[in-house]
Amino acid sequence: KKRILIFASGRGSNAEAIHEAVMDGRINGEVVGVICDHKGAQVLERAARWHVPSVVIEKKDYPDKVAFDEALLRAAVSFTPDLICLAGYMRICGENLVNAFPHRIINIHPALLPSFRGLHAQRQAIEAGVKVAGCTVHFVGTGLDDGPIITQTAVPVYDNDTEETLSARILTREHPTYVRAVAAFCADKLTISGNHVSGMHSEEE
Ligand code: GAR
Repeated sequence: KKRILIFASGRGSNAEAIHEAVMDGRINGEVVGVICDHKGAQVLERAARWHVPSVVIEKKDYPDKVAFDEALLRAAVSFTPDLICLAGYMRICGENLVNAFPHRIINIHPALLPSFRGLHAQRQAIEAGVKVAGCTVHFVGTGLDDGPIITQTAVPVYDNDTEETLSARILTREHPTYVRAVAAFCADKLTISGNHVSGMHSEEE
């Protein structure tokens, strides 16, 4: 079983989907911990319900980003994870973390990368007037929402969509998409060569 560590900042619905899939055997792993950068985040209540240890590391408690990143790395290493899943983790990972876990950190982003990196990806999609949106699971590099793409799921954008309705449509696809990607990783099915990840194909849904 792979040891899965989750990084999250808020609601934690993707974390919940991963935990559920671990519990019912779709993912050959166990969620060993949650690291969260906001106390009071809903994901912490979820972790408590799962009886999974959580650690809160808030930026404001550290003098600078270097010290914050060191604390995050120390906490992450303490869980000896095989895989780190960023699930609504709204920060760019420090290079120290990315370098300590090469090709072992994955993220879900609510857009079809490389379009619409960064915050408010769904709003960016609405504003750009695209007709197809979706989500991407990718290995984490040191840049913003970059790194080899594992899988993507597309959803339509309708004429009367708002940021909220589009976000909700994408989110319902994020959960199964993330679960399939984590399952493939934990089954050692993914092979990375440069920007290319093989072993999993995208679904059109
Ligand atoms: C999800 O839509 C996720 O794709 C997005 O935040 C939301 C978290 O929801 N992540 C990013 O925008 C990362 N750049 P959740 O906390 O319920 O999983």
